[in-house]
Amino acid sequence: MINIKSPREIALIKEASRVVAVVLDEMRAYIEPGVSTAFLDAKVREITAREGATPGELGYYGYPGAVCASVNECILHGIPSEKKVLRDGDIITLDFVARKNGYCGDGARTYPVGIVTERAKRMISIAEESFYNAVSLVKPGVHVGDISHAIEETAKKYGCSVPREFTGHGIGREMHEDPAIPCYGNPGQGPVLREGMTICIEPMILEGKPAVRVLKDGWTVLAKDGGLTSHYENTVVVTKDGYEILTKQD
Ligand code: MF3
Ligand code: CO
Repeated sequence: MINIKSPREIALIKEASRVVAVVLDEMRAYIEPGVSTAFLDAKVREITAREGATPGELGYYGYPGAVCASVNECILHGIPSEKKVLRDGDIITLDFVARKNGYCGDGARTYPVGIVTERAKRMISIAEESFYNAVSLVKPGVHVGDISHAIEETAKKYGCSVPREFTGHGIGREMHEDPAIPCYGNPGQGPVLREGMTICIEPMILEGKPAVRVLKDGWTVLAKDGGLTSHYENTVVVTKDGYEILTKQD
């Protein structure tokens, strides 16, 4: 349950997280109408290899992609495909894990494709705002429920909701470690954060109702009501008096 990393481990998680930031930033240039999510997957593989890392998601419980590429009502685990071609006005989330020297970093961004509606822009910004409202609370002694609550409240403020079935998580040698960091919860509840914990805070936002469904491929998670979805995730280390975000470049 208590999952505190040594300074050496934190340095390794930082390096894997730096690769995630590089991939998520460089991918922005390739996201445009007409490209397939398989093409994006290939670009992710190229950048990851260049950075001396491997895609942590590839083969995870049999997952077939190097990245999760989730379009519009797809909230999670969209499998890259030649058949899935981006159209002007779509929004797409890339959720990516880099593994390097045995340690992981994990991050996600939702990107606009071409010119998008105000409605779509709003979804992108709600996920980001939820993340920052949550991460700003992080310091030793804070409960996971405080963070979760901040995510849920931000979503609710905009009439949006969060899924119950998927959570943020600790990270290290494994992509998913303790503690789970839900997108909903109560202040003062759940595990207490300590200096040296490395966690992934990942608001997943549904425009409408919280219900989701999984396609027969066993991966693709969709908003049941067909509404838009967004997702914003960073790997964060709890420091002596706050936090540091590891999957962002300045
Ligand atoms: N990267 C996701 C997360 O944010 C997990 C993806 S699961 C996979 O936790 F199987 F698709 F890799
Ligand atoms: Co994650």
